[in-house]
Amino acid sequence: MLVDTFGRKIEYIRISVTKQCNFRCQYCMPDTPEDFLDSSMIPLDKTLEFLKIAINEGIKKIRITGGEPLLRDDLSDFISSLRAYSPSVELALTTNGFFLKKYAKILKDSGLDRLNVSLDTLKENRLKLISKRDALPNVLEGLQEAKKVGLPIKINMVPLKGVNDDEVLDMLEFCLENGFILRYIEFMENSHANSSLKGLNEREILALISQKYTLSPIEKQTIGPAKSFRLENGGVFGIIAPHNDDFCKSCNRIRLTSEGTICPCLYYQEAVSAREAILSGDITAMKEALKLSVHNKPEKNQWDNEQNQHSARAFYYTGG
Ligand code: 5AD
Ligand code: SF4
Repeated sequence: MLVDTFGRKIEYIRISVTKQCNFRCQYCMPDTPEDFLDSSMIPLDKTLEFLKIAINEGIKKIRITGGEPLLRDDLSDFISSLRAYSPSVELALTTNGFFLKKYAKILKDSGLDRLNVSLDTLKENRLKLISKRDALPNVLEGLQEAKKVGLPIKINMVPLKGVNDDEVLDMLEFCLENGFILRYIEFMENSHANSSLKGLNEREILALISQKYTLSPIEKQTIGPAKSFRLENGGVFGIIAPHNDDFCKSCNRIRLTSEGTICPCLYYQEAVSAREAILSGDITAMKEALKLSVHNKPEKNQWDNEQNQHSARAFYYTGG
């Protein structure tokens, strides 16, 4: 079992399989060159061996992220192999949805359990402004296909002042109508994002929803930092509010980057390189790196520290 120095059980790993992305979201990597290539990605068969060790050590949930993970064309084989190794590990994927129409069934058949799709607006031109891609038709088709093949879907929305804050309710209603669970994510400042962006905080998001609905918080049922709420019509949604003081108390996760660095916390620099261990298949060294990163996990993220708000660590690197 992996337990950190604050007594938190670490059962969840997020792995970024590539830093590359076909979008250039304003809050993520708007200025990264179009032709940016991730030249240091670990081959997925090596990552698989690392994850087998992580599962043996007590990891129960794996989320595959990026960049855009569906840019790795051997991803479904990787998922099948993980599923074959562990019938019970929970396998989830976070995607921008652009390639989902093509991959939804393959992913489901490979053994994927669930999907998170990033979607900040239902307006075609607005998505073009946010992501620099004319992507809405593809994403909506991808969502319908994923729903058809039976993948449970959560939608991630980052509400931004003057950008999409007028869609906080529309997005909620779209998700309720389609059987998706919406999760609002507070914008997390970082030095790669467009510096003029201002996110809505939890209180502001709840105030907008309360204009139309009566809502009540749901007792936490799952471990992890998301909070859930119920509307009077039975609908459910979540908020991820890393600026809140108690956000890190229930953190149960670590992150592996596409080049093999294990990050114990999103905004913490105390990362451990497992790259050589993973590339050479050194089981003892992989285990040691895993344990060291859990040991290094800080008590809290560093948002209250102004300097760290400008952390150079990018979301497309740590996988969000
Ligand atoms: N702040 C909040 N959320 C972000 N994401 C990416 N960058 C940021 C940021 N700066 C979210 C995306 C995606 C998830 C992987 O992370 O919306 O859904
Ligand atoms: Fe790509 Fe996701 Fe970053 Fe947008 S937020 S640029 S979709 S990795």
